[in-house]
Amino acid sequence: MLQLPLREHPNQSSTKAVILVGGPSRGTRFRPLSLDVPKPLFEVAGHPIIHHCLKAIAKVNDVREVILVGYYDETVFRDFIKDAAKEFPQFRIQYLREYTALGTAGGLYHFRDAILKGKPERLLVLNADVCCSFPLVEMLRLFEEKDAEAVILGTRVGNDAATNFGCIVSDSHTKRVLHYVEKPESHISNLINCGVYLFATECIFPAIRSAIKRRTTRPRLLSYPSSDNLESSFVAGDDDESERSEVLRLEQDILSDLADSNRFFVHETKDFWRQIKSAGSAVPANALYLQKAFQAQSEELMPPSATIVPPVFIHPTATVDPTAKLGPNVSIGARVVVGAGARIKDSIVLEDSEIRHDACVMHSIIGWSSRVGAWARVEGTPIPISSHSTSIIKQGVKVQSITILGKECGVGDEVRVQNCVCLPYKELKRDVANEVIM
Ligand code: GTP
Repeated sequence: MLQLPLREHPNQSSTKAVILVGGPSRGTRFRPLSLDVPKPLFEVAGHPIIHHCLKAIAKVNDVREVILVGYYDETVFRDFIKDAAKEFPQFRIQYLREYTALGTAGGLYHFRDAILKGKPERLLVLNADVCCSFPLVEMLRLFEEKDAEAVILGTRVGNDAATNFGCIVSDSHTKRVLHYVEKPESHISNLINCGVYLFATECIFPAIRSAIKRRTTRPRLLSYPSSDNLESSFVAGDDDESERSEVLRLEQDILSDLADSNRFFVHETKDFWRQIKSAGSAVPANALYLQKAFQAQSEELMPPSATIVPPVFIHPTATVDPTAKLGPNVSIGARVVVGAGARIKDSIVLEDSEIRHDACVMHSIIGWSSRVGAWARVEGTPIPISSHSTSIIKQGVKVQSITILGKECGVGDEVRVQNCVCLPYKELKRDVANEVIM
């Protein structure tokens, strides 16, 4: 059924794209920000995280359809899709909702008929929670050159960090993937999975099908303690075979099998790559996307001046006093007010917030409709650019390097907030450091 003749419909799109957006039970590490907005719609560098994915997909000429697959409510992406459809008229965008978390491969498989409609030859799959330059055209080139079944985007990280990710052992000459192990117990490679894939449609669905068959024949050998859904679907007495067999992850269940074929290749990016997992990781993602926009001379950014240290994004509806100094790596949201003499650096200030005169905001995220008082200081700790973590050890305690104020928080005049995560609706009237304020 899935052996599609190639190029049967020359006028139809031969590459489709899927963005895996997850659902409300995901993104818990993104709290408190995900309490008020679904992580894929959180704005970095002036745009929702998934907008950056769409922008990259738009550079691939033959994509006519992008499918967001997740298990958020149907209404969540409605306005985003409406706006994106105007900006990206070259493709149709739709959201397909899983009835429950099916895993990164289970979701693809569940919607295989919709994905295979129009007989695309290739399927791009992007994890929504990554920030990178998405070199999709280069991946397509490698795919064609090698007549590949699959191409994965890889990047090098420090040896100490590698085992936190999916690790790829490859032939450096042919770029063939020899082994793939998700979060191995010991070091096998520092080339890691970026969460961006290109699959031949005629291969990926049969590969998922085989994994489902294996699962069905020996279900108890496979369990995933990190996921509530998966756990509950494997407890004794759960006899809904068809439902539980659809819960599959690309990383654990599919990629290592693909490495057994001789047609799985890796494109190694030398450009930036970060995961957007914790709320604090939005700050390095914001910086990286702003720097990229600055290099591309984007007109969305502010021109450099005595008070603007690029890159800086200011929403057209924000009001920034000309004596305030902003940048580098600052995004100011809609209707924000920044007072005289304020200083903002390496930070995201979300919609409707106010930074009063002479306040200082550094390495921080200021939540929607929050207020930072006059002469107040809200600050985190800079982390090395090469770091893939946003937590640091302070006085023997693990704390967030980025200070985060949730929605509608208030910081009093002259109050200092350092390395804190503050839940929504809190008023900070005294100095605080290294705390989670609940
Ligand atoms: P770890 O990285 O292993 O800690 O897990 P995670 O849940 O943070 O991320 P994971 O690698 O599982 O998810 C990668 C991407 O797929 C993210 O953008 C998730 O939102 C998305 N995702 C995860 N599980 C599902 C799922 O069941 N269905 C869909 N549609 N997307 C998912």
